[in-house]
Amino acid sequence: MKKSKMISIIVGCIVLISVGLVYFGTSTKNTNPNENANVPENVENNENQNANNSNEDVNSLVVYFSVPETDSPDNMTRDEDNSVHVVDGEVLGNTQYIANLIGEKTGSDVYRLEPVEPYPTNHDDLLERAANEMEQGARPEMKDPMDISSYDVIYIGYPIWNADLPPIINTFLENNNFDGKTIIPFCTHGGSGISGTPATIQDMLPNANVITNGFSISRTNMDASESEVSGWLSSIGY
Ligand SMILES: Cc1cc2nc3c(=O)[nH]c(=O)nc-3n(C[C@H](O)[C@H](O)[C@H](O)COP(=O)(O)O)c2cc1C
Repeated sequence: MKKSKMISIIVGCIVLISVGLVYFGTSTKNTNPNENANVPENVENNENQNANNSNEDVNSLVVYFSVPETDSPDNMTRDEDNSVHVVDGEVLGNTQYIANLIGEKTGSDVYRLEPVEPYPTNHDDLLERAANEMEQGARPEMKDPMDISSYDVIYIGYPIWNADLPPIINTFLENNNFDGKTIIPFCTHGGSGISGTPATIQDMLPNANVITNGFSISRTNMDASESEVSGWLSSIGY
Protein backbone atom coordinates (compact mmCIF):
# COMPACT_ATOMS: atom_id res chain seq x y z
CA MET A 1 0.00 0.00 0.00
CA LYS A 2 1.22 3.46 -0.87
CA LYS A 3 2.39 5.63 2.03
CA SER A 4 -0.08 8.45 1.14
CA LYS A 5 -3.03 5.99 1.05
CA MET A 6 -2.09 4.63 4.46
CA ILE A 7 -1.96 8.15 5.92
CA SER A 8 -5.44 8.88 4.48
CA ILE A 9 -6.84 5.71 6.10
CA ILE A 10 -5.30 6.60 9.50
CA VAL A 11 -6.61 10.19 9.31
CA GLY A 12 -10.07 8.84 8.33
CA CYS A 13 -10.12 6.53 11.36
CA ILE A 14 -9.15 9.37 13.72
CA VAL A 15 -11.95 11.58 12.34
CA LEU A 16 -14.52 8.77 12.73
CA ILE A 17 -13.47 8.06 16.34
CA SER A 18 -13.56 11.77 17.22
CA VAL A 19 -17.07 12.22 15.78
CA GLY A 20 -18.24 9.16 17.77
CA LEU A 21 -16.74 10.47 21.00
CA VAL A 22 -18.33 13.89 20.57
CA TYR A 23 -21.76 12.33 19.82
CA PHE A 24 -21.81 9.92 22.76
CA GLY A 25 -20.29 12.51 25.05
CA THR A 26 -23.04 15.05 24.43
CA SER A 27 -26.05 12.77 23.96
CA THR A 28 -26.01 11.49 27.57
CA LYS A 29 -29.23 12.75 29.16
CA ASN A 30 -28.76 15.08 32.09
CA THR A 31 -30.89 13.35 34.74
CA ASN A 32 -29.94 15.75 37.47
CA PRO A 33 -32.23 18.78 37.41
CA ASN A 34 -30.10 20.40 40.10
CA GLU A 35 -26.89 20.31 38.16
CA ASN A 36 -25.42 23.81 38.13
CA ALA A 37 -28.16 24.91 40.53
CA ASN A 38 -27.60 26.00 44.08
CA VAL A 39 -28.18 22.66 45.82
CA PRO A 40 -28.26 22.49 49.62
CA GLU A 41 -25.82 20.15 51.36
CA ASN A 42 -28.53 17.74 52.44
CA VAL A 43 -29.42 16.71 48.89
CA GLU A 44 -28.00 13.48 47.53
CA ASN A 45 -28.11 12.82 43.80
CA ASN A 46 -28.99 9.29 42.77
CA GLU A 47 -27.95 8.20 39.34
CA ASN A 48 -28.99 4.58 39.67
CA GLN A 49 -28.84 3.00 36.23
CA ASN A 50 -31.22 0.27 37.43
CA ALA A 51 -33.82 2.71 38.68
CA ASN A 52 -37.29 1.53 37.72
CA ASN A 53 -38.73 4.93 37.05
CA SER A 54 -40.56 4.07 33.85
CA ASN A 55 -40.81 7.66 32.64
CA GLU A 56 -37.33 8.99 31.97
CA ASP A 57 -38.59 12.54 31.50
CA VAL A 58 -39.97 12.72 35.03
CA ASN A 59 -37.80 14.41 37.61
CA SER A 60 -38.43 12.89 41.01
CA LEU A 61 -37.33 13.84 44.48
CA VAL A 62 -37.53 12.00 47.80
CA VAL A 63 -37.94 14.41 50.72
CA TYR A 64 -37.88 12.98 54.21
CA PHE A 65 -37.73 13.77 57.90
CA SER A 66 -36.30 11.30 60.41
CA VAL A 67 -34.95 11.42 63.95
CA PRO A 68 -32.56 8.55 64.68
CA GLU A 69 -32.22 8.66 68.46
CA THR A 70 -28.61 7.50 68.45
CA ASP A 71 -25.69 7.29 66.05
CA SER A 72 -24.04 4.32 67.72
CA PRO A 73 -25.06 0.73 66.96
CA ASP A 74 -23.72 -0.49 70.32
CA ASN A 75 -25.57 -0.81 73.62
CA MET A 76 -28.74 0.79 72.34
CA THR A 77 -31.66 1.38 74.67
CA ARG A 78 -35.03 0.03 73.56
CA ASP A 79 -36.17 3.51 72.44
CA GLU A 80 -32.99 4.03 70.45
CA ASP A 81 -33.31 0.61 68.83
CA ASN A 82 -36.92 1.43 67.93
CA SER A 83 -35.90 4.56 66.06
CA VAL A 84 -33.06 3.21 63.92
CA HIS A 85 -32.20 0.62 61.33
CA VAL A 86 -28.58 -0.54 61.24
CA VAL A 87 -27.08 -1.53 57.89
CA ASP A 88 -23.51 -2.84 57.86
CA GLY A 89 -22.81 -1.00 61.10
CA GLU A 90 -24.25 2.27 59.76
CA VAL A 91 -27.05 3.72 61.90
CA LEU A 92 -29.95 5.22 59.96
CA GLY A 93 -33.31 6.55 61.11
CA ASN A 94 -36.15 4.24 60.06
CA THR A 95 -37.63 6.76 57.65
CA GLN A 96 -34.15 7.74 56.46
CA TYR A 97 -33.51 4.12 55.48
CA ILE A 98 -36.79 3.86 53.55
CA ALA A 99 -36.12 7.21 51.86
CA ASN A 100 -32.73 6.02 50.68
CA LEU A 101 -34.24 2.79 49.33
CA ILE A 102 -36.90 4.69 47.38
CA GLY A 103 -34.23 7.07 46.10
CA GLU A 104 -32.06 4.21 44.88
CA LYS A 105 -34.89 2.23 43.33
CA THR A 106 -36.42 5.18 41.48
CA GLY A 107 -33.23 7.10 40.68
CA SER A 108 -34.63 10.11 42.56
CA ASP A 109 -32.64 12.78 44.32
CA VAL A 110 -32.94 12.54 48.09
CA TYR A 111 -33.34 15.54 50.38
CA ARG A 112 -33.37 15.41 54.17
CA LEU A 113 -35.56 17.94 55.96
CA GLU A 114 -33.81 19.28 59.02
CA PRO A 115 -34.93 21.95 61.47
CA VAL A 116 -32.73 24.92 62.34
CA GLU A 117 -33.04 23.81 65.97
CA PRO A 118 -32.19 20.07 65.98
CA TYR A 119 -34.53 17.69 67.76
CA PRO A 120 -33.21 16.10 70.96
CA THR A 121 -32.10 12.49 70.65
CA ASN A 122 -33.19 11.72 74.21
CA HIS A 123 -36.53 9.96 73.75
CA ASP A 124 -38.46 11.68 76.54
CA ASP A 125 -37.20 15.12 75.50
CA LEU A 126 -38.15 14.35 71.92
CA LEU A 127 -41.67 13.29 72.93
CA GLU A 128 -42.04 16.46 74.97
CA ARG A 129 -40.86 18.80 72.22
CA ALA A 130 -43.03 17.04 69.64
CA ALA A 131 -46.09 17.24 71.90
CA ASN A 132 -45.51 20.95 72.56
CA GLU A 133 -45.00 21.77 68.89
CA MET A 134 -48.07 19.85 67.83
CA GLU A 135 -50.23 21.40 70.54
CA GLN A 136 -49.14 24.88 69.50
CA GLY A 137 -49.38 24.23 65.76
CA ALA A 138 -45.69 25.15 65.49
CA ARG A 139 -43.90 25.34 62.15
CA PRO A 140 -40.23 24.59 62.89
CA GLU A 141 -37.95 26.58 60.60
CA MET A 142 -36.16 24.46 58.00
CA LYS A 143 -32.40 24.47 57.72
CA ASP A 144 -31.20 24.73 54.13
CA PRO A 145 -34.53 24.89 52.26
CA MET A 146 -34.31 23.73 48.66
CA ASP A 147 -35.96 24.75 45.42
CA ILE A 148 -38.32 21.94 44.46
CA SER A 149 -39.80 23.64 41.41
CA SER A 150 -38.05 21.42 38.85
CA TYR A 151 -39.48 18.17 40.25
CA ASP A 152 -42.67 16.59 38.89
CA VAL A 153 -42.96 13.76 41.40
CA ILE A 154 -42.16 14.22 45.08
CA TYR A 155 -42.07 11.37 47.58
CA ILE A 156 -42.61 12.74 51.09
CA GLY A 157 -41.52 10.56 54.02
CA TYR A 158 -41.97 10.98 57.76
CA PRO A 159 -42.31 9.05 61.00
CA ILE A 160 -45.87 9.08 62.32
CA TRP A 161 -45.97 11.41 65.32
CA ASN A 162 -49.04 11.33 67.55
CA ALA A 163 -50.98 9.71 64.69
CA ASP A 164 -50.19 12.70 62.48
CA LEU A 165 -47.53 14.48 60.39
CA PRO A 166 -44.48 15.81 62.24
CA PRO A 167 -44.74 19.64 62.26
CA ILE A 168 -41.71 20.18 60.02
CA ILE A 169 -43.59 18.40 57.23
CA ASN A 170 -46.27 21.10 57.57
CA THR A 171 -43.53 23.73 57.29
CA PHE A 172 -42.27 22.11 54.10
CA LEU A 173 -45.76 21.76 52.61
CA GLU A 174 -46.72 25.35 53.43
CA ASN A 175 -43.48 26.85 52.14
CA ASN A 176 -43.46 25.40 48.65
CA ASN A 177 -45.68 25.40 45.60
CA PHE A 178 -46.90 21.88 44.76
CA ASP A 179 -49.49 22.83 42.14
CA GLY A 180 -49.64 20.20 39.39
CA LYS A 181 -47.12 17.92 41.08
CA THR A 182 -47.61 14.28 42.06
CA ILE A 183 -47.06 13.69 45.76
CA ILE A 184 -46.37 10.20 47.07
CA PRO A 185 -46.45 9.88 50.87
CA PHE A 186 -44.57 7.22 52.82
CA CYS A 187 -44.01 6.66 56.52
CA THR A 188 -42.62 4.49 59.26
CA HIS A 189 -44.56 4.03 62.48
CA GLY A 190 -44.86 2.15 65.73
CA GLY A 191 -48.29 0.65 65.15
CA SER A 192 -50.60 3.42 63.90
CA GLY A 193 -49.97 2.82 60.20
CA ILE A 194 -50.09 5.83 57.89
CA SER A 195 -53.22 7.14 59.72
CA GLY A 196 -55.01 9.87 57.78
CA THR A 197 -51.81 11.57 56.66
CA PRO A 198 -52.22 11.25 52.85
CA ALA A 199 -55.66 12.89 53.16
CA THR A 200 -54.19 15.60 55.39
CA ILE A 201 -51.53 16.29 52.75
CA GLN A 202 -54.16 16.40 49.98
CA ASP A 203 -56.21 18.89 52.04
CA MET A 204 -53.13 21.07 52.42
CA LEU A 205 -52.25 20.81 48.71
CA PRO A 206 -55.56 20.98 46.82
CA ASN A 207 -53.83 21.53 43.46
CA ALA A 208 -51.47 18.57 43.76
CA ASN A 209 -52.23 14.96 42.94
CA VAL A 210 -51.60 13.10 46.22
CA ILE A 211 -51.40 9.32 45.84
CA THR A 212 -53.67 7.81 48.48
CA ASN A 213 -51.92 4.43 48.41
CA GLY A 214 -48.91 5.70 50.36
CA PHE A 215 -46.29 3.35 51.75
CA SER A 216 -46.16 2.51 55.44
CA ILE A 217 -44.03 0.11 57.38
CA SER A 218 -43.81 -0.67 61.06
CA ARG A 219 -40.50 -0.09 62.79
CA THR A 220 -40.69 -3.76 63.85
CA ASN A 221 -40.73 -4.88 60.22
CA MET A 222 -37.75 -2.91 58.91
CA ASP A 223 -35.88 -6.05 57.82
CA ALA A 224 -38.55 -6.60 55.14
CA SER A 225 -38.16 -3.04 53.78
CA GLU A 226 -36.35 -3.94 50.59
CA SER A 227 -39.07 -6.23 49.23
CA GLU A 228 -41.94 -4.21 50.73
CA VAL A 229 -40.72 -1.03 49.04
CA SER A 230 -40.20 -2.79 45.70
CA GLY A 231 -43.67 -4.35 45.81
CA TRP A 232 -45.30 -1.04 46.69
CA LEU A 233 -43.42 0.89 43.99
CA SER A 234 -44.55 -1.52 41.32
CA SER A 235 -48.12 -1.44 42.67
CA ILE A 236 -48.24 2.33 42.07
CA GLY A 237 -46.54 2.05 38.68
CA TYR A 238 -43.06 3.37 39.50
C1 LIG B 1 -42.67 12.12 69.12
C2 LIG B 1 -43.05 10.76 68.60
C3 LIG B 1 -44.39 10.43 68.46
C4 LIG B 1 -44.74 9.19 67.93
N1 LIG B 1 -46.07 8.90 67.74
C5 LIG B 1 -46.41 7.73 67.15
C6 LIG B 1 -47.78 7.41 66.89
O1 LIG B 1 -48.71 8.15 67.18
N2 LIG B 1 -48.06 6.24 66.29
C7 LIG B 1 -47.09 5.35 65.93
O2 LIG B 1 -47.40 4.32 65.36
N3 LIG B 1 -45.78 5.63 66.17
C8 LIG B 1 -45.42 6.78 66.76
N4 LIG B 1 -44.10 7.05 66.99
C9 LIG B 1 -43.08 6.08 66.57
C10 LIG B 1 -42.41 6.48 65.26
O3 LIG B 1 -43.37 6.76 64.27
C11 LIG B 1 -41.51 5.32 64.78
O4 LIG B 1 -40.63 4.92 65.76
C12 LIG B 1 -40.75 5.73 63.51
O5 LIG B 1 -40.30 4.58 62.87
C13 LIG B 1 -39.56 6.62 63.79
O6 LIG B 1 -38.95 6.95 62.59
P1 LIG B 1 -37.58 7.74 62.45
O7 LIG B 1 -36.53 6.87 63.05
O8 LIG B 1 -37.39 7.91 61.00
O9 LIG B 1 -37.73 9.04 63.16
C14 LIG B 1 -43.73 8.26 67.56
C15 LIG B 1 -42.39 8.59 67.75
C16 LIG B 1 -42.04 9.83 68.27
C17 LIG B 1 -40.59 10.16 68.44
